[in-house]
Amino acid sequence: MNPGETLDFPPGFLWGTATSPTQVEGHIENEWTQFTALDGGNCRRACDHYHRYPEDVDWMARLGANAYRFGIEWSRLQSAPFAPLNPNELARYVHLLECLQAKSITPMVVLHHFSNPQWINAWGGWTNPATIPAFVDYVRQLGAALKGKVHLWNTFNEPDTYACMGYLLGGFPPHNKWRLGKFRRVIDHMARAHVKVSRILQQEGGGKIQVGIAKNWTFFHAYKKWLPWDQAMAYACHYTFNKFVLDAFMGVGRRRASTFIGLNYYGRVRFHHFRPMIPASGMSPKTLKKIGFVCDDMVERNPEGLATIVSYLNRKFRLPIYITEHGSASSDEKFRESDLRENLASLHGAIAEAADVRGFFYWSLMDNFEWQFGYAKKFGLLTVDFEDEKLPRSLKPLGDFYSKICRTNTVARP
Ligand code: BGC
Repeated sequence: MNPGETLDFPPGFLWGTATSPTQVEGHIENEWTQFTALDGGNCRRACDHYHRYPEDVDWMARLGANAYRFGIEWSRLQSAPFAPLNPNELARYVHLLECLQAKSITPMVVLHHFSNPQWINAWGGWTNPATIPAFVDYVRQLGAALKGKVHLWNTFNEPDTYACMGYLLGGFPPHNKWRLGKFRRVIDHMARAHVKVSRILQQEGGGKIQVGIAKNWTFFHAYKKWLPWDQAMAYACHYTFNKFVLDAFMGVGRRRASTFIGLNYYGRVRFHHFRPMIPASGMSPKTLKKIGFVCDDMVERNPEGLATIVSYLNRKFRLPIYITEHGSASSDEKFRESDLRENLASLHGAIAEAADVRGFFYWSLMDNFEWQFGYAKKFGLLTVDFEDEKLPRSLKPLGDFYSKICRTNTVARP
């Protein structure tokens, strides 16, 4: 293994960026509209991608990215159960797709990314089985309206994170805590909806359609390997967030609903006396650094883990894999560059050992509204000046680095 060696990715590999409606669009009416983040921010304007998407597509083209993973916001399109889709909002998304097509950027559309119409929330969201037929109706209409325009569909983004944050940890609306029954119900209902809408999209989507979820994979370990309670804690998290969720969506009888696996990968969480040792849980990055933990502003980094999980998913499901999200939040651009390089080298290792990986989407195109943390976490390839009324974007050093990867389909081994 020679440092600096050029690692080639497969021909036709998708190099993309990713965003989600609540985090970038602004002017949105869902459960996040009235939410105030820890930094005092809210999503009501966000990056104003709602109006500025043509400019943002130009930025993608300047980066040399050939794919874009973004969400279509259900709350914009349907004002009541089984209502027809709002034609103006639909036209805006169609125009976004046209802008992408004009730049030869392949769209991957996410149908659910941590948000719902308020009428869904009012009846209990995904804890209520009535949400399944409502969602199926929405997707049937949307699929018909976008027939032939979208070939890559991501039904649910990180159902595990959504159900955990909303019903176990309380960080996301509806802020329930330790409601394990609700957590399980949400996952079960989403998995049932995934199976139904996958079938509809594949049958009626026009052309060859690919459908999958985006599963967030976090490794959970005990910091002191011999402490049984931390081992138990790590296993309980692994079981609940990884195994239970993957089985619900891709287990017996449901496996054939998906034609690919989307993997969101950031790193790992180690526990010490039940405490998750990560910056996102309030531990100081300085303290973590002192004990040898390499973290961004969110979690511990674990680049080797990317090869491990990709190889595991490849062996288990024998399906194409897309890395639907990976990225880091930090103001240290050098750190972000080496982190990306290490993760891509790890991914390349899994591909070399026969995993069928088709693309990689960097989270995120630009700095945005990071849920409970607001604008404090900087995941972007572009910065956004949130102090300036005009929200100007500019390229960060990491954007430059990523651009070279996109243009050459290679990365240099760290
Ligand atoms: C989510 C994104 C989020 C990112 C960084 C993923 O869990 O899908 O919405 O911004 O991680 O935390």
